[in-house]
Amino acid sequence: MNLSPLQKLRLDYNPKLPGILRKPISQLQPAYGERTESADNQAKMKELFPHTYGAPIVRFQEGESSPREEAINIAVVLSGGQAPGGHNVIAGIYDAMKAANPDSKLFGFLGGPSGILENRLIELSEQYIAQFRNTGGFDIIGSGRTKIELEEQFKITEEVCKKNGISALVIIGGDDSNTNAAILAEYFKKEGSDIVVVGVPKTIDGDLKNEQVEVSFGFDTATKTFSELIGNIMRDAKSAKKYWHFIRLMGRSASHICLECALRTQPNVAIISEEVEQNHTTLNEIVDHIVEVVVKRSQEGYDFGVVLVPEGLIEFIPEVKVLISELNALLADHAEYFSTLHTYEDQSEWINKNLSRDASYVFSSLPNNIQRQLLMDRDPHGNVQVSRIETEKLLIEMVEDNINELKTEKKFDGKFSPLSHFFGYEGRAAFPSNFDANYTYSLGYNAYLLLSFGLSGYISAIQNLHESPENWIPGGVPITMMMNLEMRHGRLKPVIKKALVELQDRPFKTFAANRDSWSIKTSYAYPGAIQYFGPEELCDQPPMSLELEKKNG
Ligand code: FBP
Repeated sequence: MNLSPLQKLRLDYNPKLPGILRKPISQLQPAYGERTESADNQAKMKELFPHTYGAPIVRFQEGESSPREEAINIAVVLSGGQAPGGHNVIAGIYDAMKAANPDSKLFGFLGGPSGILENRLIELSEQYIAQFRNTGGFDIIGSGRTKIELEEQFKITEEVCKKNGISALVIIGGDDSNTNAAILAEYFKKEGSDIVVVGVPKTIDGDLKNEQVEVSFGFDTATKTFSELIGNIMRDAKSAKKYWHFIRLMGRSASHICLECALRTQPNVAIISEEVEQNHTTLNEIVDHIVEVVVKRSQEGYDFGVVLVPEGLIEFIPEVKVLISELNALLADHAEYFSTLHTYEDQSEWINKNLSRDASYVFSSLPNNIQRQLLMDRDPHGNVQVSRIETEKLLIEMVEDNINELKTEKKFDGKFSPLSHFFGYEGRAAFPSNFDANYTYSLGYNAYLLLSFGLSGYISAIQNLHESPENWIPGGVPITMMMNLEMRHGRLKPVIKKALVELQDRPFKTFAANRDSWSIKTSYAYPGAIQYFGPEELCDQPPMSLELEKKNG
């Protein structure tokens, strides 16, 4: 295989562990805190998780008692969308496992959770893992979006683990996968099985976080990659002075990615979905705001600009939210009939007939391509796949219509040439930043410690991430502590609480305090490419929003 110079150098990079984890593994032990409570609905959660509810938070410290020393088989699975650093989680588990007992073995289920159900796995050797250290992607074993959430799937999981002599399963995934990890851990305990389940917080979206999990891995690299691209586009816009760039950024419902990129690049407009929801801002109001900025900048002589749009925006606009929820219900309840409608004309006619009057009005007022995208296949939860809805193009079309009206009325004599972009896949498999390379390796190493002490139903958690790795605090959090009850498919289900952008926290407040001055003037910041080798202040910086959050308290 032909490796680039950077690939070669990154393979040899030695990720930094938290200071305490640099001690010999046999000298580490967990310190147990107080019993914990779930995020909400405590009584019900206690009932649903009788064997795992209330477990204490743990931290690893130097001590006498050593983890179990007999050789074991561990299996790992990658679940959901790629996030930079997944390979290092696996390398971290492997290295800790071998340091504890060279006879232990690590297996990887292939293609995500379906690999468990289909008993497809490989043993991960030193040589095999060596090709993936500090690299992006999930190609080491592949990933997938199959959910393991039903009793019969839990049974198969137990059988497959037993068949392969696996006594511990590490699930690397987002909020849903970690929710299912907690339910699986509870199931194994209820069944008297001693298979240990440990979760690892993954997602570029940044929506799996709380007081204990400071950030999910991959967020840092993805946002630094997008910010580099946005900065490059800004420089081009400022040089050519002829385009307005509308850039949609991945992140599902949460606007963490959009906010972090806005803080790093200082765009003319950045929309934060959580604010749109709080203020009940309508689609027309969002468009009016963008038009106002376009007009004012044009008056200053700037017929160019950059607008950042969060991927999930469409779901937070009040009138579209109602429309989407009606569409979701219609498509779920009449899936069979809907699949018999083969032309788009037939589909939209049937939809319009069955929507409420208001929703039908909103649906008909949307451009044709957006209507079609709203009718596309739902995700496994029955939700619209927001990554496939081109909200940036919708905004462009509406802004253009308004600008044309202004031109006809002779109220605007500038130029408006819009271009659209969508950044998501560009950052999901990038070379992990040093922050993510160190963090993920530590999460994996730490996950081994959790499972070796039999801490089933825990998520690997490293805290104090705004400081240098030497001062990071490794430990584990019972997943039930992060859970509450939410309505899914018409039923209340225990799930990890999704973290959206908090408007009263410092990252949003910092953005809000500056956005007006960024909107008319050209105040772009150009963060440039991620740096892997050089001084710590250049290479090892954590996400900006994490640093700002730490200043909160
Ligand atoms: P996870 O939630 O699995 O981490 O995936 C995040 C994400 O990248 C979202 O930002 C995006 O909406 C979605 O995946 C895209 O999914 P797909 O990979 O199926 O296209």
